[in-house]
Amino acid sequence: MSLREYIQRLDQQKKLIHVREPISKRLEISGLLKQMEPSPVLFERVRESAFPVIGNLFCSKAAFADYFGIQVNEIIPFLTAGIQNRRPPEVVSEAPCQEVIELEPDLDSLPILFHCDRDGGEYISSGVVLARHPVHGQNADFHRCMQFSKTEMAVRVVRNRHFDKFLRDLKQIDVAICIGNAPNILAAAATSVDLGVNELEIANALEPFQVVRAKTSDVLVPAETEFVIEGTIYLDKTYAEGPFVDLTETYDVIRQEPVLEVKAITHRRDALWHALLPGALEHKLLMGMPREPTIFRKVDEAVRCLDVNVNPGGCSWLHAIVQIDKQSEDDGRKAIEAAFAGHSSCKHVYVVDRDIDIYNPLEVEWAMATRFQGDRDLVVRERAPGSSLDPSADAGTHVTTRLGFDLTAPLETAGKSFRKADFPAVDVKRFMSP
Ligand SMILES: Cc1cc2nc3c(=O)[nH]c(=O)nc-3n(C[C@H](O)[C@H](O)[C@H](O)COP(=O)(O)O)c2cc1C
Repeated sequence: MSLREYIQRLDQQKKLIHVREPISKRLEISGLLKQMEPSPVLFERVRESAFPVIGNLFCSKAAFADYFGIQVNEIIPFLTAGIQNRRPPEVVSEAPCQEVIELEPDLDSLPILFHCDRDGGEYISSGVVLARHPVHGQNADFHRCMQFSKTEMAVRVVRNRHFDKFLRDLKQIDVAICIGNAPNILAAAATSVDLGVNELEIANALEPFQVVRAKTSDVLVPAETEFVIEGTIYLDKTYAEGPFVDLTETYDVIRQEPVLEVKAITHRRDALWHALLPGALEHKLLMGMPREPTIFRKVDEAVRCLDVNVNPGGCSWLHAIVQIDKQSEDDGRKAIEAAFAGHSSCKHVYVVDRDIDIYNPLEVEWAMATRFQGDRDLVVRERAPGSSLDPSADAGTHVTTRLGFDLTAPLETAGKSFRKADFPAVDVKRFMSP
């Protein structure tokens, strides 16, 4: 399936909301998308641009699984298989994403959204940045871009990401920023793998697709993507980027960030702009979900792991809930250490038994209330490296305190009960008329 076929199917199933009234890219589209979350919305007439905008496409694991025709509980093995069975996409010489080629680009023609009133500018937040390094090959990841002229943007580059290494090595680098991608490309670009691994090969293992050479560089871009912004990012040319709402739904600070000079814009003739609301459910899904296979793998090397949820309540980044099949008393602690190793930004890990539904916060809290003793079951890692996204971490260094909560029941119960009692399964229909 392609992204367009998926959108068509959503429409046929009456799951796509159409907004036909003219609407502004400044504060209106973002506000409406937030209110309609998690329903997908198509804005047919944007006041400031000829292009329509679509948003809230993949706000839940159910929507992501639906695209691929899999069940939600199959996502972790599905992503794991994609990482393991990478294969390069087929290269073609002509592609829909280059039906229109603009070599005198004007970013003002695009429906780049101004999301929240304190934002530093109009932002691209769904763009997958593709770049090529002579030694490490091609890399794909996300970098939000703040427009500040018709041809320039400030690009947020978190330190030590692969793209940051590319830029520090090369000082200036040609990029292709792709907007309007299928979820195999979105999920792969959000995955952290070893330097030198081309994330598009993971995307191609999840669902095969074609790539075409960009018009102004040798970067290969997905043939079916809606828009490609081509240009060069400079390490030593910077601009004040921000403020901008981040994953935690709080405002990120203003920083000097590298500048992108746009050289060309290519797009499909009837191109559709993908809006991704910062801090909202789709952003959270794309951040947290790709961390689950890496946590699962590490925990499963140590104990029997059953499932992992990097849950929206923990900003889909700072918390992980890990379900294990406990075999020995120290399995909970081992799982905590392994989960920290599987996701270096994870601040709090909760380990539960198989009878706890890790998608139900009330059940996780119930496990904490009935199975956890702070002096015995809490793992504390003081002054550990933390996440740049956590407002409570030390400013600048991001040093934090990592906590692991072993919420599993002891194997030796000393006569106490740790299981919820079952009520009798009475046939309701026998006693209540419809
Ligand atoms: C929607 C979304 C937006 C993101 N925005 C940024 C960003 O602005 N800057 C950044 O450095 N990383 C951002 N990230 C995180 C990186 O894309 C992500 O950590 C990536 O997997 C790291 O890639 P790497 O393993 O190639 O370093 C974002 C991720 C998502 C899913």
